[in-house]
Amino acid sequence: MKGIVFTEFLDLVEEKFGLEVVDKIISQSELESEGAYTAVGTYKFSEMLQLLQHLSTHTNIEIDDLLLVYAEHFFDVLKQSYPGLLATYKDPIEMLASIENHIHVEVRKIYPDAELPTFEVLEKTSNSLVMIYKSSRSMHHFGLGLMNKTFEHFNSTATIELEKIKEDGTEVKFLINKN
Ligand code: HEM
Repeated sequence: MKGIVFTEFLDLVEEKFGLEVVDKIISQSELESEGAYTAVGTYKFSEMLQLLQHLSTHTNIEIDDLLLVYAEHFFDVLKQSYPGLLATYKDPIEMLASIENHIHVEVRKIYPDAELPTFEVLEKTSNSLVMIYKSSRSMHHFGLGLMNKTFEHFNSTATIELEKIKEDGTEVKFLINKN
């Protein structure tokens, strides 16, 4: 997992819960990196999972809810870091339907070792989209947060339902309907 995902996560934890909580979740985890992340480095996903688990225990907030809020913050980071990628799109459905064949393809050019999910489009109309998310990392709520923000970016909103295909969240169907 890319370092930017860790650095932005710990920045947000500090902003919302304070530096003591950042120190606490780092010291409770067994981290090869020892919690020293650089934006351009690459670290094990298991480190992120431990940080999330300890933050969840400390705050009594479910990991999925933490990922949702984090993704909403991360969208703004992506928007600032890759303005050109977003500028290609005029419509949220078009943008979300292009994650697999365009957006994450570009991401892989920048970071060849990025660990990305796959999104398979099953159905698409001008106002709706059905996609299957697949990833061993089960970060579907991170996807949900990015989707919410994608609609907001285009001054729009949507109703998004998740249906787990696999109980462990490694395969999830997203049913997206523009409001
Ligand atoms: C992960 C880039 C848009 C879904 C990531 C990562 C990067 C990235 C750098 C981390 C990879 C790693 O840690 O190795 C971008 C950029 C985008 C964009 C530059 C737009 C400009 C989106 C959108 C979605 C999405 C709109 C909406 C569904 C995800 C998910 C992950 C991810 C779910 C987590 C990894 C996983 O589930 O396996 N993306 N992304 N991305 N991205 Fe995107």
